[in-house]
Amino acid sequence: MKAWLWRLLMNKILITGSSRGIGKSIKELLDKNGYDCLTPSREELDISLPESIKEYCKNIEVKGLINCAGINILGDLKSLNFEDTNNMLNSNLVAPLFLIKEVSSAMKTNNYGKIINISSIWGIRSKEYRTLYSMTKFGLNGMTKALARELGEYNILINSIAPGYVNTEMTQTNIPLVQQNDIKETIPLRRFAEPNEIAELALFLISEKNSYITGEVITIDGGFLAWNWQ
Ligand SMILES: NC(=O)c1ccc[n+]([C@@H]2O[C@H](COP(=O)([O-])OP(=O)(O)OC[C@H]3O[C@@H](n4cnc5c(N)ncnc54)[C@H](OP(=O)(O)O)[C@@H]3O)[C@@H](O)[C@H]2O)c1
Repeated sequence: MKAWLWRLLMNKILITGSSRGIGKSIKELLDKNGYDCLTPSREELDISLPESIKEYCKNIEVKGLINCAGINILGDLKSLNFEDTNNMLNSNLVAPLFLIKEVSSAMKTNNYGKIINISSIWGIRSKEYRTLYSMTKFGLNGMTKALARELGEYNILINSIAPGYVNTEMTQTNIPLVQQNDIKETIPLRRFAEPNEIAELALFLISEKNSYITGEVITIDGGFLAWNWQ
């Protein structure tokens, strides 16, 4: 297929981690906006397993990729073990890299592609018990910047979205309810984000409306970092 025709007809976006939380909201918003979303379950694509990534990507061609699936194992240095460390690195960092590697070949051929890595404010600053999480999210932001350079000549734009606190299962599991109200007091907007607010930014970045933003880490945190860490 000619590149211009591919660009016109191809509307497929691969989203990982769309069974719940932020990924689910992104899928719902992209569906509403006419995208054809590929949303594999963990059984179809287990991002912690390199062979699963290769197998799933064998026959797919997409115009956009949103690396949203992620995990957050909390702990101090003393509690860290190799198994959790490998799981975190594979799921949050190695998987996005190899998914990009797999899907970018067709994007290069067709001189068009949009990639979003869902990172975190803890990929810009850090806090207690987030060593593994910050290792992976700082790394993800570094990858975004490095690949923006490498993929730019093929008109493939890649950005990180760095949410603050978002109302999802991950937040409910990792932050006791009693602490949540204290944290809200430290956020200028005095509330957590809803997943659909992150989805709106993803919709813009994945669309043709974004024609010149690449290599950026875009914070969406209700002003949290501006107020707490400058
Ligand atoms: N929530 C926040 O406050 C927040 C803030 C900043 C950044 N983030 C980032 O945003 C992304 C989504 O977070 P969330 O809060 O929406 O998380 P969530 O509600 O915990 O959902 C995580 C998603 O990732 C999938 N996933 C995890 N491990 C997987 C694996 N090995 N293979 C395939 N899928 C896997 C889960 O699938 P299953 O249903 O199969 O488990 C689920 O769809 C993550 O990268 C997270 O680090 C979240």
